[in-house]
Amino acid sequence: MDDARPGFDAVWAQADPIEGWLTRQQARVLYDAVHALPPGGTVVEIGSHHGRSTIVLASALPDSSRLLAVDPFDPGWRYGGPDTRELLLAHLAAAGVADRVEVLATTSRAARTSYTGAVALLYVDGKHDCRTVRDDLRWASFVVDGGVVLVHDAFSSLGVTLALLRTLPISSRLAYAGRTGSLARLSVRRPGVGDRLRYLRELPWFGRNLLVKVLLRLRLRPVARLLRHHDVHDPF
Ligand SMILES: C[S@@+](CC[C@H](N)C(=O)[O-])C[C@H]1O[C@@H](n2cnc3c(N)ncnc32)[C@H](O)[C@@H]1O
Repeated sequence: MDDARPGFDAVWAQADPIEGWLTRQQARVLYDAVHALPPGGTVVEIGSHHGRSTIVLASALPDSSRLLAVDPFDPGWRYGGPDTRELLLAHLAAAGVADRVEVLATTSRAARTSYTGAVALLYVDGKHDCRTVRDDLRWASFVVDGGVVLVHDAFSSLGVTLALLRTLPISSRLAYAGRTGSLARLSVRRPGVGDRLRYLRELPWFGRNLLVKVLLRLRLRPVARLLRHHDVHDPF
């Protein structure tokens, strides 16, 4: 049977105009990882905002699979606001994926405590403080052996980096597999020494990103360029 899923370029054309922080290369990683899944599974996204990543994940879903998009749309938070959920739903409808996405307007923790079943792939991009990210990573206990966990801002946000730093070196089930920019790829399997070392070797790059962020706040873009950061935006 023909694969009815749109190709990555068509999907990115839909997602790119939507506000968000996911880069094209990172979107490609999300798309390919979901595209490779067997049919019939559940993908979980923590933090959907206006749907930039949600559309990429949903468009790549195999037959009879679904995406659970978890976001509290908290108006008190800087990326929340009363219109956020409506915008997300409108973007999903425009991309033709609304029927594959179940939007849960609640926190990651509340959704997790009532969740049962297996997860084929987990994408973490919710609140970025260390405590919340550590909590988000507990969703990994639902991810099938050999499955994939993707974490955005893993090397560009202090809270996310600290959460991974407190989780990965001692985890018996999450192995660091690499990164695309600050998007970390974790495999659900017993990590070896090499996996743990590979992760620790990335930390100087995180230090460089923190420094770039400080330089951009201080309007010292020429100095940031010396660190090979040529964008006006933070490194993602
Ligand atoms: C960085 S944005 C997500 C961006 C989105 N993935 C994209 O590609 O555009 C973070 C999102 O996490 C949501 N969020 C905040 N706290 C959360 C929580 N406890 N559980 C799930 N999502 C949360 C926010 O409402 C916000 O929409």
